[in-house]
Amino acid sequence: MTPPNGSWPYAKPDSSDANLIHDAAVHLLSVVNDILDISKIQSGRYTLDARELDVASILDQQIAALQSEADASGVKVNARYSRELPPIRGDESKLAQIISNILSNAVKFTRADGTVTVEAARLPDDAVAVFVRDTGVGMTPDELEIAQQPFGQVDGSRTRWREGTGLGLPIAKSLVELHGGEIQIRSTKDVGTEVAILLPSRHHVSIAQVRDTVMGNGTANESETPR
Ligand SMILES: Nc1ncnc2c1ncn2[C@@H]1O[C@H](COP(=O)(O)OP(=O)(O)OP(=O)(O)O)[C@@H](O)[C@H]1O
Ligand SMILES: [Mg+2]
Repeated sequence: MTPPNGSWPYAKPDSSDANLIHDAAVHLLSVVNDILDISKIQSGRYTLDARELDVASILDQQIAALQSEADASGVKVNARYSRELPPIRGDESKLAQIISNILSNAVKFTRADGTVTVEAARLPDDAVAVFVRDTGVGMTPDELEIAQQPFGQVDGSRTRWREGTGLGLPIAKSLVELHGGEIQIRSTKDVGTEVAILLPSRHHVSIAQVRDTVMGNGTANESETPR
């Protein structure tokens, strides 16, 4: 589940009923945020901050954020990456969301005693690849196809053994593409899944950036202005 974009402004209440209501509200807020995100992305009106980011510290934070969920399901999370990764250019909250969506899937779809491993490597030209591998339930090629569609869930029946909306993966994929990168997924049913997140080097310049610099923002709208 994607964490809410804004933090929930109220402290966790004491009574157990109030706790249930609080948890439901937090859950609902994150579902609403996911739906807003996917519609914004699909409408092409999504803007990203572009700063230099340290991928390792974002990985550290997202692993820490999922640790108690992993502990509760008996899933071990291994972090295997160096601090020496080159910085990439991107939007910190969106990169955190990408990692969180992929990592939460790895934890969620891995049974007790399974393992999730997070690795990262420097590629030529200072691009960075993050790999999230799990020893979970895995997917067939057809299931993998479904999983990447908005609201697509493998075994989307009411008896489904895990919660969710089916937006985490397509949002992560679109956000990576907005960064000029790509996501590649390999999965084997009953063996596990590997998600590779390729993030271009900070030297990479997209056609969109060049167009905005040369022609100014909003060129697409200008061509639609009435005669
Ligand atoms: N690591 C994984 N192992 C096995 N199946 C996966 C994995 N990641 C995703 N899937 C499958 O792809 C589906 C879509 O994933 P996605 O993250 O979009 O949705 P979700 O996790 O079900 O819900 P949400 O992320 O919106 O809370 C999942 O429901 C699951 O069936
Ligand atoms: Mg998910």
